[in-house]
Amino acid sequence: MDNQPFRVLVLNQISQKGLQRLPAERYVAGKDVAEPDAVLVRSADMHGMEIPASVKAIGRAGAGTNNIPVKAMSARGVPVFNAPGANANAVKELVLAGMLIAARNLAPAQRFVGQLDPAAQDLDTLVEDGKKNFAGSELAGQTLGIVGLGKIGCLVADAAIKLGMNVLGHDPEITVDAAWSLPAQVKKAASVAEVLRSANFVTLHVPLVDATRDLVNQKNIGLLRKGAVLLNFSREGVVNDAAVLAALDAQLSWYVCDFPGPAILRHPRVVALPHLGASTREAEENCAVMVADQLRDYLEHGNVANA
Ligand code: MLT
Repeated sequence: MDNQPFRVLVLNQISQKGLQRLPAERYVAGKDVAEPDAVLVRSADMHGMEIPASVKAIGRAGAGTNNIPVKAMSARGVPVFNAPGANANAVKELVLAGMLIAARNLAPAQRFVGQLDPAAQDLDTLVEDGKKNFAGSELAGQTLGIVGLGKIGCLVADAAIKLGMNVLGHDPEITVDAAWSLPAQVKKAASVAEVLRSANFVTLHVPLVDATRDLVNQKNIGLLRKGAVLLNFSREGVVNDAAVLAALDAQLSWYVCDFPGPAILRHPRVVALPHLGASTREAEENCAVMVADQLRDYLEHGNVANA
């Protein structure tokens, strides 16, 4: 190995804690680095991008790698490192928030209060109306169905059980018995259809791959119970938005998701967030540190973990 520093092209804003793992005496890291040895990326879409021949490794500061041409990179012998689990707690907490937003009608209640005239004489009466109109239900005693029992799915299961929910789980790719620390109280479902049919809340935690594209679609969304809430904090594309729109006219009470697709964006019973699942200081640091360490281990020692 010569003494030239490694060059890392940084495509997104990455936590300083992660960048500090690439010490300045051995690394040049930034957004204008030419002929990079490695690329560090968060959500930027790399599919249309010309990836320089000098690139030996890619680090994704997050779990999903669908923004990276992984097959093309592996054909070039370029490993793609990611950070599974490093942001799982952040996503879990947002799923809990999503369930509560739906169950307690928090979004329309806030809209209602925001539109009140602070100078209205009858403000107290109007607030009382809101209290009646936006009464909700509790999570305890309800059934949560989880599709996808990786790190996030298992953390959500654990939290839901602690809130007094019944939990039903299914994973299209791994057997439930092999799932990552799945709490013993989780009932096993044989299929996505069984989850849709049996739960009041359904949350999805699968990667976007061919097998999970349109996992919830026109054919199966009708299986959801009357008043069900569907949560998608996995990826846009796992749920078919046209199917959601039709279901909102039928039995679906709320769709809570992390992707404001154009078809559903303005529906009053859709809560759509701008991909906030992993956007906490803690998760951003965890992901950046994990992936920077992997890049460093690979560039300096040829070690491969999580690729
Ligand atoms: C993930 O796949 O972990 C998230 O998309 C991370 C992110 O928000 O960048």
